[in-house]
Amino acid sequence: MRMYDLILKKRNGGKLTEDEIRTMITDYTNGSIPDYQMSAMMMAIYFNGLDKDETLWMTLAMEHSGEVLDLSSIKGIKADKHSTGGVGDKTSLAVTPMVAVCGLKIAKMSGRGLGHTGGTIDKLESIPGFSTDLTPEHFVNQVNDIGIAIMGQTKDLAPADKKLYALRDVTATVDQMSLIASSIMSKKLASNADVIVLDVKTGSGAFMKSLEDAKALAKEMTEIGHGAGKVTKAVISNMDQPLGRAVGNAIEVREAIDTLNGEGPEDFTKLVFTIGSQLLIASGMYDNESDAKAALQKVIDDGSALNKFAAFVKAQGGDESYVYHPENLPCAKLTVPVVAERDGYIKAMDCEKIGLTSLILGGGRVTKESAIDLSVGLTIEAKVGDYVKKGETLAVLYANDEAKAKEAGETYRNALTIVDEACEKQKIILDMI
Ligand code: URA
Repeated sequence: MRMYDLILKKRNGGKLTEDEIRTMITDYTNGSIPDYQMSAMMMAIYFNGLDKDETLWMTLAMEHSGEVLDLSSIKGIKADKHSTGGVGDKTSLAVTPMVAVCGLKIAKMSGRGLGHTGGTIDKLESIPGFSTDLTPEHFVNQVNDIGIAIMGQTKDLAPADKKLYALRDVTATVDQMSLIASSIMSKKLASNADVIVLDVKTGSGAFMKSLEDAKALAKEMTEIGHGAGKVTKAVISNMDQPLGRAVGNAIEVREAIDTLNGEGPEDFTKLVFTIGSQLLIASGMYDNESDAKAALQKVIDDGSALNKFAAFVKAQGGDESYVYHPENLPCAKLTVPVVAERDGYIKAMDCEKIGLTSLILGGGRVTKESAIDLSVGLTIEAKVGDYVKKGETLAVLYANDEAKAKEAGETYRNALTIVDEACEKQKIILDMI
């Protein structure tokens, strides 16, 4: 098999075989196929696409390019959720302890934030002492003991995807639906849960700007999951405004804890209950949404979900007292309101710019190596459809540097469109696949 012939075949619109895809991915991972040939292949795929079979073969080849987690010693149903990324997305922090109390086993690999989107690991690390650097043995034992463990992605997990993603990033070939679907699903499959619920975000703060594209991506990913023998569902959720009110790191942990106390913002609580109930239904524990949601409400009301979160924090070296006193989590020294410059209704929020606001304050990463300030962030006081008067607070910034706060404030104001006519509020759940 010559890489030249495969590139030619794909360039001319042909279909690659399973064997060709597997060999190509193996040889690229071990360095026998150079970046320039793989770049040409990515561009050929960008223009001619992959069909359903090719997408599945590509995913399986990437899944098996490294280690597939061995979760066989974990008793019970292993479940995982994945978000395609957004602003203010602290869903994993709240939903995983809730479903763990209900009996699911959460053995989860999470990532760090990059660019305008945040990452679960950074958020958790704002709890003093908390570590996601676990040995595989600790990881599995912790899931067996308390039903939940979250660790950082190991370098051995889907290494082909790591290499390919870096290549796609610099060759303008990231935004191809089958490549995105196979990239995400290869890592999910290598993490080896029995049940996967995907939270596919759409809107100004998401990868998929249109609902149509988000549905198509969700369909591709669920088909891959089914093809690989996993129970896979997708929820399409709104990212045309930040999720909940908190954006940052420690501040998002606080909001997740509020939610576990039954005091979370309405949109975020609704998403947590929707993802949680889909996990319970997909795992066969409940056969309808209202019973699953009632079970989730019970673990909030009796405090067991909050206690589970505390047990999880403690098991990973964190100080659990912060779970009961989240007001003690790191908080920046300056509190700076961003006020409205006119009366009117909020028509739109450019969510990517709002993510950028947190990044400017120091709460996000520009490159993978950047250090971040876990204490900064913002709370959003007015969302789409709300009426504000001139001088009223739109958001509160938490900053450690006045110049950064000024720049972030301007960015935030520019992210909002305020008009005279009344506008509808946004729905959080847009579809389910
Ligand atoms: N996230 C991924 O992991 N891969 C992609 O291709 C896009 C987003």
